[in-house]
Amino acid sequence: MTWSILLLPGDGIGPEVADAGRQVLDRLVERTDLDLAFENGLIGGAAIEETGSPFPQATRDAATKADAILLGAVGGPQWTALAGDKRPEAGLLALRSALGVYANLRPIHVRSEVVDLSPVKREIAEGTDILFVRELTGGLYFGDKGVLEDGAYDTCRYSRLEIERVVRIAADLARTRRGKITLVDKANVMETSRLWRRVTEEIIEADYHDLELEILLVDAASMHLITRPRDFDVIVTENLFGDILTDEASVLTGSIGLIPSASIGAETTGLYEPVHGSAPDIAGQNKANPIGMIESIAMMLELSLGLPREAQAVREAVTLALADCRTADLGGTASTSHMANTILEHLDQCLDRV
Ligand code: NAD
Ligand code: IPM
Ligand code: MN
Repeated sequence: MTWSILLLPGDGIGPEVADAGRQVLDRLVERTDLDLAFENGLIGGAAIEETGSPFPQATRDAATKADAILLGAVGGPQWTALAGDKRPEAGLLALRSALGVYANLRPIHVRSEVVDLSPVKREIAEGTDILFVRELTGGLYFGDKGVLEDGAYDTCRYSRLEIERVVRIAADLARTRRGKITLVDKANVMETSRLWRRVTEEIIEADYHDLELEILLVDAASMHLITRPRDFDVIVTENLFGDILTDEASVLTGSIGLIPSASIGAETTGLYEPVHGSAPDIAGQNKANPIGMIESIAMMLELSLGLPREAQAVREAVTLALADCRTADLGGTASTSHMANTILEHLDQCLDRV
């Protein structure tokens, strides 16, 4: 079977890490019986420059047809003056919404090889293995918003269904891991959070009583993530809290440049993107860490293409490469392309072993 993969490099370091990702995919095609058909598309600032829209119709059409989408990053200082719905970021939000990918999986795994690069002490960070399940198509991001004469507003709305479906995904994943799920909310202040709490408690009580449910307020959770990160297994939370907490948690691993994500939902197309942004401060310098993108490919192999062994080979190649060299965000001097080549060198042997 031929899988169709849509590549959306986007802006800033997006094209640099997407290139590295493409090389990994090409190598997999060369070395296994994997058959991939690639298409390239425009999103974000790059799409604005070419077409005037951050999410052109051609990208929408290609996205709904693809089996999986790999996205670099969007945004940059050149587009900050644009109105909200015209900005590069609006293109990414429209893509997520069009695909219906309501569950964004963001694994935070502290590798023992780089644990000393964590700003948090080894005895606290070591062994951390958290899976965030961030709600991705609702909440403040998608509620009514507007600019008033002397103000502005964003509204947060969640339906029962929007909460239930993402909590079920988180609970199913917790069952395959250590059996604990933590809900992060702001139920002492927000009505939507009180609904999240009620719905989550009902679902866990009715269908997942084998799981341990922990509930934390978001302000305290942001502290516990740093003081006792190993205690967490699966964390489920609304869109905005998930965005913020995953950037925070990423530093436990040494760099945001290491963190991948998978966005899934009811439809078959999965969206895979590193958690980091377009990093304008290092864009165009061949300095970006490509590992978040390459680990996103491992998630794609596993979740969209049903190839867990190949996914494992990619992850092992990354681990081996990290012993040889590192990009600047991890204190090394390797360029993006050198890091990618080192991963490719290891990938050959890792594929032979799986
Ligand atoms: P950012 O994640 O782009 O960068 C934050 C810091 O992390 C920077 O110092 C950057 O150099 C560093 N960094 C990020 N990725 C790295 C990598 N792979 N290797 C090495 N260092 C890396 O966040 P920001 O600066 O707040 O945002 C810049 C732009 O990116 C904004 O326009 C924002 O909207 C956008 N953004 C896009 C996405 C996405 O497309 N998914 C995600 C986050 C931010
Ligand atoms: C992310 C980004 C996006 C988000 C932006 C660029 C819209 O920060 O993927 O984490 O907030 O979801
Ligand atoms: Mn973010």
